[in-house]
Amino acid sequence: MSDTPLHRHYTHYSELPVSMRILYTAALCILGMGYLFALIYLFHTYSGRDGNPLDLTYNDLVIAYTGSGKGSKLEAAMRGPMSAMLPKDEAAALVNWVQQGADRPTYETFIAPTLEKRCLSCHDGSNPHLVNLSGYDNIKKLAEQDKGTDIFTLVRVSHIHLFGISFIFFIVGIVFSHAYVRPLWIKYLVIGAPFVCLIVDVSSWYMVKIYHPFAWVTMSAGAMLGMCFAFMWVTSMYQMWIGRTPKAVLERGGGDVG
Ligand code: HEC
Repeated sequence: MSDTPLHRHYTHYSELPVSMRILYTAALCILGMGYLFALIYLFHTYSGRDGNPLDLTYNDLVIAYTGSGKGSKLEAAMRGPMSAMLPKDEAAALVNWVQQGADRPTYETFIAPTLEKRCLSCHDGSNPHLVNLSGYDNIKKLAEQDKGTDIFTLVRVSHIHLFGISFIFFIVGIVFSHAYVRPLWIKYLVIGAPFVCLIVDVSSWYMVKIYHPFAWVTMSAGAMLGMCFAFMWVTSMYQMWIGRTPKAVLERGGGDVG
């Protein structure tokens, strides 16, 4: 298996003109940088969902896609840090209103006066560090239930991901196709798997909404994608500039030393 002969159209990096190797290297460098920034962004966006910003876990993903199940920000604040700011009956009325859908007429007759009296001394918008509670629109936003990323957002991110990431792996795959890897199936797998992972990854976001454990699929597909990228990147760079020309290439008269 390890001596599978070279395909007649196969060219090793050492047989490529320097100009192409420069182009490949430059593209790999930029894509590698892009990948790093994407990881930072991913971590920053998702890791704090479960209250612990230090790691990216199963719970982070479930909350991001399906919501925390803890109701709105306003309710959370009323039960938590803001509970001392108003009498119990007023708090109950406020929570009740939020749960009934936070309509505008009730806001104007009953809710606005309460907020005015109990909350606006701090939350009138003059302090940029505190949420602004003045006006219906501001309150309405805080009263929205946290249901996680909505389907439309997922659709938007899906098409960006599918287009963008398949381009990245197409380019990296083309570069990597010049690598000399035996047994050959490893090469086929590393080139093909990212596209399967991409489909699985994007589909799993929707599935998490239906069945939470699909978050494991999301994480595994993402991890596989990253490993394939790293493998192709490192192997390509190494064989392009550092590694010796493989014997099989030299023997058929290829390579820049042969
Ligand atoms: C004495 C000043 C003060 C008053 C009065 C006050 N708050 Fe706050 N509020 C704060 C501070 C400070 C924070 C931010 C620190 C924290 O989250 O504990 C905060 C945070 C919040 C948050 C954001 C929590 C989050 O998830 O980020 C909400 C919502 C909130 N308050 C609602 C209210 C409501 C409703 C009232 C009136 C019933 C009220 N607050 C009255 C000082 C006040």
